Amino acid sequence: KGEKEEYVEVDELEKQPNSEQKKWEAEQLASAQFQFGSKDAKIKEEYDLLLEDQIEFIQALTMDGSRDDSSKKSEISEAEWKRMTIEETQKSLPVYPFKEDLIEAVREHQILIVEGETGSGKTTQIPQYLVESGFTEGNKKIGCTQPRRVAAMSVAARVAEEMGVKLGNEVGYSIRFEDCTSERTILKYMTDGTLHREFLSEPDLASYSVMIIDEAHERTLHTDILFGLVKDIARFRPELKLIISSATLDADKFSKFFDDAPIFRIPGRRYPVDIFYTKAPEADYIDACCVSVLQIHATQPLGDILVFLTGQDEIETCQEVLQDRVKRLGSKIRELVIIPVYANLPSDMQAKIFDPTPPNARKVVLATNIAETSLTIDNIIYVIDPGFAKQNNFNSRTGMESLMVVPISKASANQRAGRAGRTAPGKCFRLYTAWAYKHELEDNTVPEIQRINLGNAVLMLKALGINDLIHFDFLDPPPHETLVLALEQLYALGALNHHGELTKLGRRMAEFPVDPMMGKMLLASEKYKCSEELVSIAAMLSVNSAIFYRPKDKIIHADTARKNFNHLSGDHLSLLQVYNQWVDTDHSTQWCYENFIQYRSMKRARDVREQLVGLMQRVEIDMVSCLPETVNVRKAITAGYFYHVAKLSKSGNYKTIKHNQTVLIHPNSSLFEELPRWVLYHELVFTTKEYMRQVVEIDSKWLLEVAPHYYKAKELEDSTNKKMPKVTGRAVMTQ
Ligand code: CDP
Ligand code: MG
Repeated sequence: KGEKEEYVEVDELEKQPNSEQKKWEAEQLASAQFQFGSKDAKIKEEYDLLLEDQIEFIQALTMDGSRDDSSKKSEISEAEWKRMTIEETQKSLPVYPFKEDLIEAVREHQILIVEGETGSGKTTQIPQYLVESGFTEGNKKIGCTQPRRVAAMSVAARVAEEMGVKLGNEVGYSIRFEDCTSERTILKYMTDGTLHREFLSEPDLASYSVMIIDEAHERTLHTDILFGLVKDIARFRPELKLIISSATLDADKFSKFFDDAPIFRIPGRRYPVDIFYTKAPEADYIDACCVSVLQIHATQPLGDILVFLTGQDEIETCQEVLQDRVKRLGSKIRELVIIPVYANLPSDMQAKIFDPTPPNARKVVLATNIAETSLTIDNIIYVIDPGFAKQNNFNSRTGMESLMVVPISKASANQRAGRAGRTAPGKCFRLYTAWAYKHELEDNTVPEIQRINLGNAVLMLKALGINDLIHFDFLDPPPHETLVLALEQLYALGALNHHGELTKLGRRMAEFPVDPMMGKMLLASEKYKCSEELVSIAAMLSVNSAIFYRPKDKIIHADTARKNFNHLSGDHLSLLQVYNQWVDTDHSTQWCYENFIQYRSMKRARDVREQLVGLMQRVEIDMVSCLPETVNVRKAITAGYFYHVAKLSKSGNYKTIKHNQTVLIHPNSSLFEELPRWVLYHELVFTTKEYMRQVVEIDSKWLLEVAPHYYKAKELEDSTNKKMPKVTGRAVMTQ
């Protein structure tokens, strides 16, 4: 009944900035009139004539050549105006009234747990308070970790703007393969993985006075390991301040872990959110999302919509469908601004996320679960939650890791719903049944450390000199089998010796911020004299899924274009062809456009490649090429990924050598119709079946050449022998 009333606030909110701007513009005009009116009668006359239309007036001034003064004045005022709105926003955040108390608490305690709802200002404000309070004096930095790249970048940009400095100077960010900081940086946002690596070069974090482990509730693998590392450092650096900041109710658990550190709770402000469920399960939730968006758009009062999808591909599909339907509806509906948000979003598009919605239009944000807690987008009134997220899962029994779409937890569902009630009462549409919510969703998401491959983490810890992983101080320890498997894998790769100690090869592998298998592959390129090719392949694999695009209306053209790059030996070499041809066209955008290749992804691949070349220099590997011969390229890949090998079975399926699991070549692969006897895959993706993505043909003999300690000739014979190969040695966990 009171629906209209309920939304009055929203409309008011939207009007406000406008009326404010109008007022400002009028003031500008008045002062301009005063200034010029008394000085120059001619302009005064012009002004009077053009009074109705401010814009034309300003144009007239420009033409007159007497613009200088006025433009300077208006620029100053504009900056002033911007500063004022920033200040207003800052003061309106829930954390603001607690500024003094918070700083006092930080001064008093070495470790502080801060808990506050998403959007209370923890990430953007607390570091600024610390800077203001002198915590960066004496040439020290404040660090703040984020589990996600996009969050680190966009938060740094926002804080730089708030502080009125250029991004990369006083305020900067550092993420894998991209460092946007300088000697002047005093406030550094970074991914948790980046801080993890920083321990290698600065084990005591000496350059930091405060370290904030932010979004602790996300419980990513890196954040979990950081807990143990920073706790240890705090013991012998009593002047280092630690802040563990979290959006949810894990604060007590964190407090206990950090020797009963005090908890600082920022009271949240939340408006009520009505929750709606579907009556029956949705068969196609993407379509259900699109329908819901349009329904809201057509029937509900203004207010932006946030839709949670699982990844870039889904977001793009949804965007296309919506654009198409909106186009067909034409002027029958209001403007709908569609904004995608996902991890690999190019930075120019990231800037758009926070643009205010144009008057009388509605914004719909299509996001991955990054918008669950890491990023706060203001003025969201409606949330559409299909109830899924993409998760990396590792099966320690089979040793296989794959990316799959899984149902979210109740905790996640409630976080998502909460996004609708930040600025006004909201509505959350769950595209699943109330029964499913109650009976099918787990209470909490399992922390990453308990469900993913630990190879990388273990290598890093070993490189930090932490040998006894069993007794490492974990908030929640990983399953024993997963840890053992990671050790075995690193042993097989040659990164650890049979005492479980880091080898010289392992130390070199740890220099690369990549998966151990990829690190090994890059290092193997030295022996096989193909480093040029391997860094390109590694760079392309790291932007992997975002290289080719397939617009709905040009699928056939796009697929044909893609097929032109297909290499007979497999996808790694197809990617290499794409990269090299792009280089030959002098990094042309036009070429990308014509070949249905994402220019942005290519640019990113080039950046990553540059970084990798730098790292290759650090480990003293010369850049050499083996082209046109590609056998060595494939051998070097095999040297890193010999775990990921599958063999064609009599039934026409592939079986992994290690665990005899059935897997299929992904339909996008250049080998989809070729079906070579032996293949190596880069990753497994589980959709309806277990698919190998990025596949290359290999010769089984190479396995004996690159991993003689792991494979035995008998096991690779082309007979019906399906016995599993045995690990010939076992990594030992040392004390
Ligand atoms: O960390 P927490 O969730 O407590 O809040 P925050 O990220 O510091 O966000 C505080 C405010 O800053 C919110 O109103 C955001 O919308 C705003 N913000 C922004 O306008 N642009 C960004 N890039 C990040 C935050
Ligand atoms: Mg935050």
